[in-house]
Order: sequence, then structure tokens, then C-alpha cells
Amino acid sequence: NGWGILYIILAYLIGSIPTGVWYSKTRYKVDVRTLGSGNSGGTNVGRNFGFASAVIVIAIDVLKGWIPMAVARHSFADQPWIIMLTALACVIGHAYPIWGNFRGGKIVATSIGVLLGFNFWLAISQVLLFALCLFLSSTVSLSAMASYGIAVVAIFFLYESWIYRIGFLAIFLFMVYRHRSNVERLIHKRENRISWGLRSTK
Ligand code: G3P
Repeated sequence: NGWGILYIILAYLIGSIPTGVWYSKTRYKVDVRTLGSGNSGGTNVGRNFGFASAVIVIAIDVLKGWIPMAVARHSFADQPWIIMLTALACVIGHAYPIWGNFRGGKIVATSIGVLLGFNFWLAISQVLLFALCLFLSSTVSLSAMASYGIAVVAIFFLYESWIYRIGFLAIFLFMVYRHRSNVERLIHKRENRISWGLRSTK
């Protein structure tokens, strides 16, 4: 399916928009990847430039998954392969952006966006769980991985299709892989926490 393949490439290009990098360079004349954790995502943007900046970057990174996925579900409704590959293309673009030297983020916001386009209420439940974990732990990485992992378990119960089951499991495992430095810090109890003024305590 030629259109499907073209669409998946387009999803990769959209996922590749390096929101945090362009935002920090445009507004603060510095590449956020040279600061803090070195990550391009909303957490590190918030750590360095404050809450409002984090909200802007996170919102755009969420849309990078949400819009392509919503359109895919509409346009390729009976083609689960194309829908799932669209989801993977968005997050791979975010992690390895063609417009950002292939040094991108840890896929949290874009994976949430993909889930919003796939199953809206499941995504809302996941975000609420994420917020609860964050409130309890003040640790973005842990909250993201835990809540997304539970959402993937829910997908195994809600969907018969192995394309979706394995596809979303792959996104979760990729998320953990992208967080390997965070996992290392979590194990040694040295992971950064957010303080509720949203400046890092570390
Ligand atoms: O935004 C990704 C988050 O899970 C961790 O970010 O900057 O603390 O490594 P960071």
C-alpha cells in the first residue's frame, strides 16, 4: 500500500520536529540538550526554563503523536499495520529526529499523544495515573514508564490484535531503553525529582 508507506514516512517527519531544541534555541539562544539532563523533552525544558516553557514543548510533542495517529485511524481504519507503524514512526522520529541531528527525546509526550489518537479514554486514564504517580514520587521518568506500562497491559486486555499488543509493548520497551540513564539513577536513588515550583531540586 503506497499511500500507507508515504503516510508512515510523513509521520516520522512530523515526529522528528525537535520542539525542545528549536524552542530553547529560538527563545533562549541555547540548545536545551547542553543543559540539565541533556534531554530535549519537556521535563528538561521545564527544569531549565520554567513551567510555561515545559507546557508549550509538551503540548507540541503530544500533538506530534496525536494528530498523525488520529488521521491514520480515520484514513486507514481497516489497516492496523499502518495505524501501528504510524505510531512507531512518530516516536522514532521524536527519538531520532531528522531535523535535530538524530539526537531527540525520551518519547514520553509523543507516546502519550499516540495513545490519545488510538484510544482517547485509555490515554486519559494513563495521564491521570501518570499525574498520581508524579504527585507521589515527584519523579517524571518513573511515573511515565510505570503509567505507560500499565496502559500497555490494558491494551492486552482490550485488544485482540497482536499488531497492537506487540506494537504498544514495543513503544513501552523503547521508552524504557531511552530512559536507561534514568533507570540507572533510579536504581542508585539518584534520579532527579521535580520540585512543585517545577524547578529541579538537584
Ligand atoms: O521527559 C522525559 C522524562 O521522563 C525524563 O526527563 O530530563 O529527567 O531525563 P529527564
